[in-house]
Amino acid sequence: MGDPDSPSSQPLPGRVTLSVNTTSGTDAELEPAHRPAVAHARGQSPWSNLMREVDVPVLIVGAGPSGLTTALALAQYGVDCIVVEKYAGTAHTPRAHIVNQRTVEIMRHLGLEDELLDVATPHELMRNNLWITTLAAPEIARLEAWGTGHERAGEYAASSPSPMVNCPQTVFEPLLMNAVLEAGCDVRMRHEFVSHVQDGDRVVSMVSDLVTGESVRIRSQYLVGADGARATVLRQAGLTVEGETAIAHALNIWFRADLTAYLAHRPGVLAWNLAPGPLPTGRLGTLICHRPYEEFVLVINYDPEAEDPAALDEEELVARVRALIGDEEIDVDILGVAPWVVSAQVAPSYSAGRVFCMGDAVHRHPPANGLGLNMSVADAFNLAWKIALVVEGKAAPELLETYSAERQPVGAAGVARALQSRREFAAVSDALGYEPGQSTEEGQRRLDELTAPGPIGDRRREGLRRAIAQTNHQFNAHGIELGYRYKAGAFVDGEMAGTDLAADSDLYYRPTSRPGARVPHARLGHGRSEISTLDLVSGLNFCLLTGFGGEGWRRAAAAASAATGISIDVHVIGELDGFRDLYGEWAARREVRESGCVLVRPDRHVAWRSEVYSPDASDALLSALTEVLAASAPVLAGQPQ
Ligand code: FDA
Repeated sequence: MGDPDSPSSQPLPGRVTLSVNTTSGTDAELEPAHRPAVAHARGQSPWSNLMREVDVPVLIVGAGPSGLTTALALAQYGVDCIVVEKYAGTAHTPRAHIVNQRTVEIMRHLGLEDELLDVATPHELMRNNLWITTLAAPEIARLEAWGTGHERAGEYAASSPSPMVNCPQTVFEPLLMNAVLEAGCDVRMRHEFVSHVQDGDRVVSMVSDLVTGESVRIRSQYLVGADGARATVLRQAGLTVEGETAIAHALNIWFRADLTAYLAHRPGVLAWNLAPGPLPTGRLGTLICHRPYEEFVLVINYDPEAEDPAALDEEELVARVRALIGDEEIDVDILGVAPWVVSAQVAPSYSAGRVFCMGDAVHRHPPANGLGLNMSVADAFNLAWKIALVVEGKAAPELLETYSAERQPVGAAGVARALQSRREFAAVSDALGYEPGQSTEEGQRRLDELTAPGPIGDRRREGLRRAIAQTNHQFNAHGIELGYRYKAGAFVDGEMAGTDLAADSDLYYRPTSRPGARVPHARLGHGRSEISTLDLVSGLNFCLLTGFGGEGWRRAAAAASAATGISIDVHVIGELDGFRDLYGEWAARREVRESGCVLVRPDRHVAWRSEVYSPDASDALLSALTEVLAASAPVLAGQPQ
């Protein structure tokens, strides 16, 4: 109980399970879709002796969103890895579900965007955030969320080629897992990472095959701890997390019911309970729509001193759901329950030597702002290209130190934002006049003031409007979702002045080509098709964007490539047979002059920029690239690390 890594529920529908053939201990098949056995797709012989030794460039512990994203990216970059996962299948209860634009972009870059959009709830159906006493009663308040409101929709649409979507982890993870298996990754389910030591240029890990009981010794160049909140790898590597644990206890009740009548006219993802009375605010729970309008999760906070959610039987679970809906007759089919603990912690450092930790292993926080899965996927996408270039011998191992330098401040900011959003949220119930211990009658009387004419009602309505507007920092926080810029890391922030951040940089995203930021999205035309500037980056190549007068960057890039072994794709935006700035968006967002350049890394963050083309362009580009690759001399090609 309370272990976020081992929810108490039984195997449930929708789970992708790699069931291991216990007779041989080697074969695996993917259920329930009867996929062909692919767990040993690279042709490794199964480990069947008492103790096997395996060598692989990268060992990944954990097949959650961060581990699977790392594996998929590495596979696409041509780096072999083994993923070990102690459970037989992917997430079997819906956990995270808000998939923000940055994550959908990363799926786009990994070739999975279309499949994700096919199975996810589309952005337009994420629109309404409701504050309710019950679903059946008139709502107390509404907010247009996740960039769907008229005021914010343009900003969201202009900022990314990808929409935000709603996709529960039970659907998101199988998508990733299937892609990882199809890419030929070696995924070992029912294998538990036990221990590791760093031994010179290798990490030696012990992994236990939970089906056969065998121990396997895996020697890798790098170890990735994507093992969630329990974070065994992190702890063993001598890393820590700081902050509070167990600030709240929550129970996810996953159920099916037909709520079309209550929600179809006001589609959305979240409905927050604000029933009057002595129970703590929100006690009836928060309703999360996972599949409109038939599959939901009701999240209930509980006091572990007073209640044991494991003791709730099906009848009581159904009663909780019906209470929130406000309909005693409605059919409710309970699919599962999962208790979990809300913490607010972040690791001061994400790496130690050859060990790199990510996702919930290094940041845990309240689900406010929906950042958990999203930050985890972005951690993975940040690390994978760096490992690939170092393994290929094209970058110095020091490049890997920039992983923690770049991602830790993002994690810390995410945890801080989620905590702040949680605090701000209380203002809504304060605005309703609710107080601890209040009777239901008194609470209802205060609630009724909301619809009363006169100064008391006016004050209450104005207070509620302000409190709801404040929650934009949780439900429309585009800046924290998309606008983070790395402050130190694998980029060179030159002489050019930076763009001012938006006045409220958590709330608003402002595109910038300043090194460390994600390259601005701009729509470009190519023949009859339309793509994004983000699409011009391919695999492990860097990409240099310039305009008329910047043709000389081609020579500079060829020279830098020859010296470093890094491929650089150069695009002169505007050329008739190339990519055209259809709507002038690139010109408006590039922040350099036409002949200047923006050098983009494989993860689409800006590595360096130059305001104009100049005769020393070759030296300047080579020097910047060399610094980005953390190398002091351009002699890296062909020296595997
Ligand atoms: P994740 O925990 O998903 O995956 C880690 C994997 O490592 C697991 O599959 C685990 O079995 C495996 N593992 C651990 N130790 C191992 C070992 N020694 N050997 C092998 N494998 C090992 N977030 C949010 O934004 N909104 C929400 O509502 C919720 N709700 C929620 C409910 C519950 C019950 C949980 C547990 C979590 C949430 N979250 C959430 C958090 C969200 O699910 C989380 O941010 C992401 O899953 C993080 O992805 P990771 O890949 O980092 O870890």
